[in-house]
Amino acid sequence: MLIDPFRRHITYLRLSVTDRCNLRCRYCMPEHGVAKLDHNDILTYEEFLRVVTAAASEGMTKIRLTGGEPLVRRGLPDFIREIVSIPGILDLRLTTNGVLLAGQASELLTAGIKRVNISLDSLNRETFRQITGRDEFESVWRGIQKALETGFDKVKVNVVIIRGTNDHELMSFARLIENLPIELRFIEFMPLGRVDFWSRERVVSVQEIKDRIRPLGELISKSHLDSDGPARVYTLPGAVGTLGFISPVTDHFCETCNRLRLTADGKLRLCLLSNREMDLRGPLRDGATIEELKGLLKEAVNNKPGRHLLDQDAHSADSRGMSLIGG
Ligand code: GTP
Ligand code: 5AD
Ligand code: SF4
Repeated sequence: MLIDPFRRHITYLRLSVTDRCNLRCRYCMPEHGVAKLDHNDILTYEEFLRVVTAAASEGMTKIRLTGGEPLVRRGLPDFIREIVSIPGILDLRLTTNGVLLAGQASELLTAGIKRVNISLDSLNRETFRQITGRDEFESVWRGIQKALETGFDKVKVNVVIIRGTNDHELMSFARLIENLPIELRFIEFMPLGRVDFWSRERVVSVQEIKDRIRPLGELISKSHLDSDGPARVYTLPGAVGTLGFISPVTDHFCETCNRLRLTADGKLRLCLLSNREMDLRGPLRDGATIEELKGLLKEAVNNKPGRHLLDQDAHSADSRGMSLIGG
């Protein structure tokens, strides 16, 4: 078992399988993109699998694939099959921007992905283009429909609310759950990635979001499941789906944090919002054994920060780029 100094059980590993992305979300990437990592800098699937094997034998059970955009990396279904065959891995999930999802959903499900989270920050084609730099709203929407038809255990839609950009769509987003069996999650905007675009004023708090969708009816609280992660989940009268609220800025959930992240270039990131990292690529390429990797994971967990310090230093997460870390 990996237990950190704050007695948190670390059971969830997020793998950013690529830094590449087919969108250019303005809060994430600079307009002209970020310098791409060299092919050799990125962990091979083999290397990821060695880390997952070590993690699983230390009691980690849940893996999430992220990016950049994970679906742009070739050979993903075979990698997925390898991950699910590792003893101890009980749950494999994917976070995607949805652009390529419609074409890949069935294969992903068959390979072993149980649940998908899809990012979608606008329901309007033109606003979507402004936020992401690409005219791909229709593909993402098709991806969501296809994910629902395909039969994943759960489909979650992530919306980062940014004042002045998409907060006028709060009601339309919330209304989606009237007819769609999705979990629609509102996420507070964090100073990650392109921090020059972030400001306190642009953050819409979960409390404000709840107040602004109040005309849709009383929020009905659902009991908190471990699988809800950091989201607090509710439904609305008569709705088929649920609403999740993620409040990293105004009400952080660090005391229940159970995760580590592995970046595309092989750094274990101990907290999303702290630049404390531990290199695994060097040891992997120097031939570290599974036992040695287990030792490094334990060392990392011992250094996991107790909580993020956004309230003390809003720009502490001014890091080398969100597309490497995967949210
Ligand atoms: P499940 O609980 O497995 O559904 O997923 P998740 O919420 O961990 O995954 P997802 O990739 O959908 O993350 C949703 C968003 O929640 C992320 O993009 C972040 O904005 C936020 N989030 C997730 N994990 C953390 C975390 O450890 N710290 C902070 N501050 N925010 C997080
Ligand atoms: N604040 C909050 N969420 C973010 N994401 C990316 N950047 C930020 C940010 N600055 C979200 C994406 C996606 C998930 C992986 O991370 O929208 O849903
Ligand atoms: Fe947008 Fe995610 Fe791609 Fe960043 S990595 S540009 S947030 S889709």
